[in-house]
Amino acid sequence: MKAKLILNKDFTVGEVDERLFGSFIEHLGRAVYNGIYEPTHPTADDQGFRKDVMELVNKLNVPIVRYPGGNFVSGYNWEDGIGDKSKRPVRPELAWHVIESNEIGIDEFQEWAKRANSKVMQAVNLGTRGPEEARNLLEYCNFPKGTHYSDMRRANGFEEPFGIKVWCLGNEMDGSWQIGSKTAEEYGRIACETAKIMRELDPTIELVACGSSGLGMPTFGKWEATVLEHTYNYVDYISLHNYYGNRDNDTAAFLACSLDMDKFIKSVAAICDYVKAVKHSDKTINLSFDEWNVWFHSNDADSKLEPWQTAPHQLEDIYNFEDALVVGCLLITLLKNCDRVKMACLAQLVNVIAPIMTDNGGISWAQTIFYPFMHASNFGRGVALSPVVNCEKYSTKNIKDIPFLEAIGIMNEEKKELTVFAVNRSLEDSIDLEVDLRDFEDAKLLEHLVLEHSDMKATNTSENPNNVVPHNNGVTSISTTSAIATLNKHSWNVIRFRV
Ligand code: AHR
Repeated sequence: MKAKLILNKDFTVGEVDERLFGSFIEHLGRAVYNGIYEPTHPTADDQGFRKDVMELVNKLNVPIVRYPGGNFVSGYNWEDGIGDKSKRPVRPELAWHVIESNEIGIDEFQEWAKRANSKVMQAVNLGTRGPEEARNLLEYCNFPKGTHYSDMRRANGFEEPFGIKVWCLGNEMDGSWQIGSKTAEEYGRIACETAKIMRELDPTIELVACGSSGLGMPTFGKWEATVLEHTYNYVDYISLHNYYGNRDNDTAAFLACSLDMDKFIKSVAAICDYVKAVKHSDKTINLSFDEWNVWFHSNDADSKLEPWQTAPHQLEDIYNFEDALVVGCLLITLLKNCDRVKMACLAQLVNVIAPIMTDNGGISWAQTIFYPFMHASNFGRGVALSPVVNCEKYSTKNIKDIPFLEAIGIMNEEKKELTVFAVNRSLEDSIDLEVDLRDFEDAKLLEHLVLEHSDMKATNTSENPNNVVPHNNGVTSISTTSAIATLNKHSWNVIRFRV
């Protein structure tokens, strides 16, 4: 089949905020313990962080990492995780029914993020706690010195303030599963008061209010409107969370779930602008899609997990090749909406629904979804060009008009590079994609990377970690005005040009 992608430097979606390639580490399962941190591992550094994991994290070039939750944060006392490790309380952790040793806390995670060349997006507990604890934590992290909490940080060995810029006001407060869940009115009020007091202490911070924990929530829409009516003047972003899964084993439909993400983003942006209009405000609230991924493979195993273990194998989805294609489509969707989505976090980073897996005491490896994320994070920075796409469409039982081609072009002026990301959703046919390059004089092909596999269910495991890996033998020919790329059936493609 044939398809066309027209790109023009003058027609743009917007500048891609690098924080679109953020990720997430929660105190959950083996994300922290035996994930990023395993002091007895042969590669452990002086702080007990696994260097092999760090190498993989570096390849993903993650600019910001949300921490410490997630559901975990809604029952968390941040004070439990500072100071002398031998004196830290061991607690039953009620969000995930495990034992939390508190061996890692705010200070250690800051240090890990520094070593990973990343910044922390810090969440505060608005489940069991409130404005006062959030203010104290902010004082601990960002106040220079000479006050109770800033001097506590200094006494713990951190002379310089952490300077954490982005703060999440709680997590998924609309969800009945959330510790201390709230109605939109209740949450709107507490989020507003927390935001006010935090801004008094540090006016340079950016604040994220909790949106719905999924498009399917019964309170979706009204929740956002009510929360923003309370918080509009005090916050900068509203959050979106959504996870996708192929529960019916219908691959054609699963590959279309990015259309759902697109609808979610556009709906939330519309609600933000409704509140803006009602308030006669000049301020625009942007979106933080701070939890997104495929999550369903581990659901059964998790329902049988014994409670009160330490660092159990929890939410350990083993991703297959079709999940990688979905993640590719979701990344393109985030890029297509980068005028409103300024931050996004692939949930999560290590072991827990993650691109990186570890064996306790053993190797670490990249799951299938690692690769589209790595490509997008490394080559997707610049200006997103409005994609004009001509291609055939297909329908499934419940979804109509799904384009076979999902694509976007990113222009990086500094590097003089144009990168096209493209997924061919067809399970049968390849696509001959014509990329209209009339606006790009003298474009030269740099490379055409492809992630493909004959088996949609193929996975990478510790025994076979390189089963699904990209190659750079994609076929693209280039003339003065266009490039013709062959997008093999069900494939993820990255076509890079020097322009
Ligand atoms: O990422 C796993 C969990 O999903 C998070 O803790 C929660 O916020 C969401 O429901």
